[in-house]
Amino acid sequence: MTTRCDLSPVWAELQAHYAASGRGFDIRDAFKSDAGRFGTLSFEAPEVFADLSKNRIDAPTLALLLDLARDCALEVRRDALLRGEPVNHTEGRAVLHTALRAPAGSNAPFNAEVQASLDTMLAFAESVRHGDRGEITDVVHIGIGGSDLGPAMVVQALQAFGRRDLKLHFVSNVDGHDLAPVLAGLDAKHTLFVIASKTFTTQETLANAQAAKAWFLAAGGTDVARHFVATSSNTAAAAAFGIDTAFGFWDWVGGRYSLWSVIGLPIAIAVGAANFREMLAGAHAMDQHFATAPLEGNLPVLLGLVDIWYRNFHGFASRSVAPYHQGLRRLPAYLQQLEMESNGKGVDLDGNALALGTSPVVWGEAGTNGQHAYFQMLHQGTDVIPVEFIAVKRPNHGEGVEKAGELTDKLVEQHRKLLANCLAQSQALMQGKTAAEALAEKAPTASATLDREVLARHRSFPGNRPSTTLVLEALTPRSLGALIALYEHRVFVTGALWGINSFDQWGVELGKALCNQLLPRLDSGDTAGLDGSTAGLLKRLVDA
Ligand code: F6P
Repeated sequence: MTTRCDLSPVWAELQAHYAASGRGFDIRDAFKSDAGRFGTLSFEAPEVFADLSKNRIDAPTLALLLDLARDCALEVRRDALLRGEPVNHTEGRAVLHTALRAPAGSNAPFNAEVQASLDTMLAFAESVRHGDRGEITDVVHIGIGGSDLGPAMVVQALQAFGRRDLKLHFVSNVDGHDLAPVLAGLDAKHTLFVIASKTFTTQETLANAQAAKAWFLAAGGTDVARHFVATSSNTAAAAAFGIDTAFGFWDWVGGRYSLWSVIGLPIAIAVGAANFREMLAGAHAMDQHFATAPLEGNLPVLLGLVDIWYRNFHGFASRSVAPYHQGLRRLPAYLQQLEMESNGKGVDLDGNALALGTSPVVWGEAGTNGQHAYFQMLHQGTDVIPVEFIAVKRPNHGEGVEKAGELTDKLVEQHRKLLANCLAQSQALMQGKTAAEALAEKAPTASATLDREVLARHRSFPGNRPSTTLVLEALTPRSLGALIALYEHRVFVTGALWGINSFDQWGVELGKALCNQLLPRLDSGDTAGLDGSTAGLLKRLVDA
């Protein structure tokens, strides 16, 4: 038994399998030779149906990948994670975001503390919603990274469950162009600021919080203690900042896994306590699936294994995420932190340099917008980029709109168009079009001088481009909770098999330290000791 996948004897078997049939695998042929392929390679997990059949895998590939997972003791390591062992070994911490969504009374670690914290946070959210703290029309959430991306993504995704008279704004960038336009439209008397920072030391968040406070006082705000609250595991620093009401949490909640904790306060304010609990319940259902489903049907495990197959055998270095729901347009950005901050690592748990690729680049845009931007490259470019489609069966355009008769019919029709586009893209990626097929078509705008065969080559598609499609019945707090938890566990699976620590982020530290050193030089213009490029750029930026 080994814990790093490339040291497992199964790795060599997978290499041989790749050379024998993986490299030349054709998804179209696989469908021709196996009528039951969709049935065998589609999977049900709580709230999420997953079609993996348009991937370059078959039963022998999956069997070997599952052997790899077993040989690397994936289940043992999953159980250690869920039990609360200090799997984040470089920071000496447990990683227990799953405990945040365990129901009251369960035997999950820290259940009593978690429930008390949740009740307090939700009661506060309800008090804001009910006007118990004065009439609040706008909530400005200031945080960055894990203290922003999750809440911002979820609030947008669950817009149909929110209230029009209560607007949520998210400010993250240290660039004042983020904060300024938000403040410009606000009335201090009716605004609540939530300052979210696990450490309460993050430059961007503290700068925006200071600026927001200055604006609040200048705009006639009088009761800072009532209009500023904090969510942080460093409540002492929040108090030192002048915030009386601070909701605390624990060091075993990683920043990018924290939307389930008090960092989710803006979600609770936007959609209410009951919906927040629904989101936790959806995530918990996925946790149970991950903890108990046999590996052969365990969706986070299967997705993680296919990720490894593509990253380390096929050499695909990126994955595109295409949510076909406008509410999920921030999901790719959220996943960038979840996956790339977690698994963008170059050494194993013992500090040995890795000889294999880890986190792919994760990127994307909501469908259908991405189709009119970069899908050209996905279809005809020289790189193969697996695509992950997310389709939502039933739309929910929000209460006001649902009642608007004819408009509703039009929007429902648009939803059919959306779904047709989603299906068509994965179909086109797989199917492709040969030059002969293109030649047989009547080219619409062919130049009179261009050879027909040359044109056909421009108009052909290689096909055999892999994709996964995830299907949700509807985008609800519960299904969204399950979907996010699915991604979290998938990231754990790949990180565990690569033998890395998915839960630290030392890679962000050097830039922060250098920024602190450069900051005074932007006033003084001093370039002494800097490399030539940085010195030249600094002079360019500060010279009068
Ligand atoms: O980007 C580095 C990071 O530490 C993230 O991991 C974290 O989510 C983000 O900064 C914000 O940190 P904090 O919540 O402590 O302000």
